[in-house]
Amino acid sequence: MASSAICTSTRLDLGCCAAPSLTSDEVLKNRQLNLDKWNFNRYLASTMTNAPIYLDFHATTPVDPDVLTAMLPYFSEHFGNAMSGSHAYGWTAAMAVSQARKKVARLIHAEANEIVFTSGATESIHLAILGYLNERDQKGHIITAATEHKCVLEVCNRAKAYGHDVTILDVDRFGQINSADLERAIRPDTALISLMHGNNEIGTVHPIAEIGELASKHGVAFHVDAAQTIGKLPIDVQAMNVDLLSISAHKFYGPKGVGALYVRQSPSRVHLLPYLVGGGQERGLRGGTHNVPGIVGLGAAAEKAAHVMSEEASRLRTLRDKMIARLSHELDDIRLNGHPTERLCNNVSLSIGGVTGDALLALHDVAFSSGSACSSGSAEVSHVMRAIGAVEDRPMSTIRFGLGRTTTEAEIDQVCQRLIKVVTQARQNSRI
Ligand SMILES: Cc1ncc(COP(=O)(O)O)c(C=O)c1O
Repeated sequence: MASSAICTSTRLDLGCCAAPSLTSDEVLKNRQLNLDKWNFNRYLASTMTNAPIYLDFHATTPVDPDVLTAMLPYFSEHFGNAMSGSHAYGWTAAMAVSQARKKVARLIHAEANEIVFTSGATESIHLAILGYLNERDQKGHIITAATEHKCVLEVCNRAKAYGHDVTILDVDRFGQINSADLERAIRPDTALISLMHGNNEIGTVHPIAEIGELASKHGVAFHVDAAQTIGKLPIDVQAMNVDLLSISAHKFYGPKGVGALYVRQSPSRVHLLPYLVGGGQERGLRGGTHNVPGIVGLGAAAEKAAHVMSEEASRLRTLRDKMIARLSHELDDIRLNGHPTERLCNNVSLSIGGVTGDALLALHDVAFSSGSACSSGSAEVSHVMRAIGAVEDRPMSTIRFGLGRTTTEAEIDQVCQRLIKVVTQARQNSRI
């Protein structure tokens, strides 16, 4: 009783001033969550008053209202365990998991039986790299790159501890590997190449199809960390010769704590050693009760991405280019990090001279990610900035904006205006 009274009186204030408010009961009753569909900013703002403009979509994304709508019944009404094969509760959950598997597979041109549900990209990457290397009889060699996400680099360290050998390729100043370097690094004992599709800091996109062809030519398995490109760039695991591919729902408007690993089944099957064993779920590759609402959310996010991806990417590319052009025009001593054209449609990574990270705290009305490009600065220089050689011996701040589904042109204009003001002011102050 008490909890339902609390629940009914909880109000979701959509916006800070004249916005309508709904009780949580009303929200739950209205499965369509009539949030004016893409009046999503107000939905986001419901959790905070004076919410900063969100431009940190590489870190995470809000759950799309359509995704949430699809998930809700699986928390309570359809709560069954997908492995309960003897009653309707289990069958309903199993059906939902199966539908989601098909939707994820369709987005990457795979077959449903090639999708293994996990808790996210970090787990998928562990299963792909360690599962593949440790399944083999002999110790193997893995090739990766210096700009990979920390979870890949840490898993490679773990592989080393198991006795495998690791080569970490350097990248050029744009963050791209050289395919001749990659080919030279392949040895008779090379078992796996693991590279990211799109970089989460500087946005550089690797030519996955070209690398896949090389891997296939040398008979080496190929794992791709697609956490930042799923739902943004078309992915075709067949055409790209990819054997293993890691994705995460919360990077493309699905819920946190759920992801998937694509594991090639044909023409030749990739064998993995599972490390979560138990109930035999996911064909024995990942034990543990299925996170049914999360998996349904991942499937719904994949289905939506398939419909909106191309239009959304082109809209974000236009906003991204507008932002880069305006900031480069109105601020001097500013550098775009990452590849000028082969970059994520939503990534703006800039290093700005003459300002420290502290000065950027004045930009508190924008949610973004910042670091240092100066090895003597207060924030540590990231391994990605080091890898592209973007380390300065003078004050320089690195700032990453990640644009997303809810980003508007007005927001981009406002953020540019605010950043120009903050940087100009900081530079003036430093001259006093
Ligand atoms: C490129 C990349 N790989 C892997 C991950 C890890 O993803 P998850 O949060 O699903 O474990 C991230 C998340 O930041 C990422 O950006």
